[in-house]
Amino acid sequence: MAKTCISRLLVVFLSLAVSLAAAAAPPAVYILGDSTLDVGTNDFIPECQARADVSFNGIDFPYSEPTGRFSNGLNTADEIVMLMGLKRSPPPFLHLVQNPSTFKSNILKGANFASGGSGILNTTGHYNYKRVISLEEQIQQFSSVRSNITNMTGSDAQTDAILSKAFFLISIGSNDIFEYLLNLTVPPSMTIPEFNATLVSTYEYHLKTLYDLGARTFGILTVPPIGCTPFARAVFSTAVYHNDSCFVPAQQFAQAFYTEALALLQQFSSQVHDIRYSLANTYLMTTTMMEDMFAFGFKDISSACCGNGTYPCNQTASFCSNRDEYLFWDRFHPTQRASELAALSLFGASEWLVSPMNFSQLLGVNM
Ligand SMILES: *[C@@H]1O[C@H](CO)[C@@H](O)[C@H](O)[C@H]1NC(C)=O
Ligand SMILES: *[C@@H]1O[C@H](CO)[C@@H](O)[C@H](O)[C@H]1NC(C)=O
Ligand SMILES: *[C@@H]1O[C@H](CO)[C@@H](O)[C@H](O)[C@H]1NC(C)=O
Ligand SMILES: *[C@@H]1O[C@H](CO)[C@@H](O)[C@H](O)[C@H]1NC(C)=O
Ligand SMILES: *[C@@H]1O[C@H](CO)[C@@H](O)[C@H](O)[C@H]1NC(C)=O
Ligand SMILES: *[C@@H]1O[C@H](CO)[C@@H](O)[C@H](O)[C@H]1NC(C)=O
Ligand SMILES: *[C@@H]1O[C@H](CO)[C@@H](O)[C@H](O)[C@H]1NC(C)=O
Ligand SMILES: *[C@@H]1O[C@H](CO)[C@@H](O)[C@H](O)[C@H]1NC(C)=O
Ligand SMILES: *[C@@H]1O[C@H](CO)[C@@H](O)[C@H](O)[C@H]1NC(C)=O
Repeated sequence: MAKTCISRLLVVFLSLAVSLAAAAAPPAVYILGDSTLDVGTNDFIPECQARADVSFNGIDFPYSEPTGRFSNGLNTADEIVMLMGLKRSPPPFLHLVQNPSTFKSNILKGANFASGGSGILNTTGHYNYKRVISLEEQIQQFSSVRSNITNMTGSDAQTDAILSKAFFLISIGSNDIFEYLLNLTVPPSMTIPEFNATLVSTYEYHLKTLYDLGARTFGILTVPPIGCTPFARAVFSTAVYHNDSCFVPAQQFAQAFYTEALALLQQFSSQVHDIRYSLANTYLMTTTMMEDMFAFGFKDISSACCGNGTYPCNQTASFCSNRDEYLFWDRFHPTQRASELAALSLFGASEWLVSPMNFSQLLGVNM
């Protein structure tokens, strides 16, 4: 089974590499979530302590600029929208609002609301990082964008028509799970079933709110194998439940998250009918790459290129020179290369990784 999956994923990459074609006119893209998709939101929050606007982040970005992406270069948001024919992710919403003269034309093309450290639960990240933009607050920001668009179009019906063609990319959940495992969840001492139920119902509430605001086309990334991050390997290293040195409880939460999200999306889409979505099994996608690391060009899938499991990537940290051979850039996040491979599989894989259709089919991209 595993072998078949691996070769199928490789075939996807080989065929995509020779047949990439730019999309027609790309739709507007609104991006919500955590640090996997953040392209600089947190740079605009002075008190926020989840930051990537410091070297050596961005070492492979043009001019080695630390933009706020938690990556050596581009991140998963960029790699995904590039396959839609865009140059890179739309800028952070918090950047767009600072430029009133271009704000209106920009928001019609999209905006990135994602904030590193944030979660599905609106308390997630606030203890660890002082201040982040929760998914709840990101959706409130999108709601203001909607009212700005309506101010331009003059009617809710026209805004609905515009937004029904837009693509909503969401990646969230890892921080909620990490904080639960670190006993930081509010309220404390929630049992696993209580936590699970809260996470699922809150995610459902957020998706419904987005739907009510006009979102119809969703690309959803679930939680990757966070028990294998350099952070989890180091911080939970004395845990008894250990397997391949990945922290098993975190792995189980990540797998369960996909199962819950799949059930949620199936139920939600049967209720409202007019949504379209691709749900990515980010856990399986990444573990597949890890199991066949050499075929994907990786030589290290367990350590951080920059910093280590307990030390963040900043100017005091040391970093590796062969970035493309690492799965992890820092203690939590993938390298640009790993994000690129993930994006290719979102657009090219079949239903075992992206359900019920892949991003190419969802977005009408010809590859
Ligand atoms: C937090 O989330 C809940 C729903 O999950 C919501 O009722 C509440 O208003 C949110 N916002 C704040 C600031 O607590
Ligand atoms: C956008 O909408 C928000 C909320 O309605 C409003 O405060 C802001 O002034 C609007 N911006 C522009 C440029 O119209
Ligand atoms: C609508 O746009 C006008 C002109 O830009 C602006 O003065 C007004 O504040 C906007 N209203 C809202 C509700 O965004
Ligand atoms: C969280 O709390 C549980 C139960 O009290 C304990 O077993 C576990 O070691 C704690 N985890 C951390 C990371 O402190
Ligand atoms: C998680 O919660 C959902 C919704 O309450 C429930 O359907 C599911 O069975 C739960 N899963 C686990 C693993 O507890
Ligand atoms: C440990 O890892 C192996 C190989 O990845 C897997 O087959 C097995 O189910 C894992 N065991 C547990 C308890 O997770
Ligand atoms: C890098 O992070 C470490 C650990 O948080 C901190 O002690 C150090 O001062 C930071 N270095 C810089 C240049 O910010
Ligand atoms: C992590 O990196 C810091 C800074 O380079 C270093 O002081 C520390 O010893 C490293 N920890 C491990 C476990 O390698
Ligand atoms: C997924 O994407 C590829 C490339 O666009 C496409 O050829 C394929 O038919 C899609 N669907 C499935 C189920 O593989």
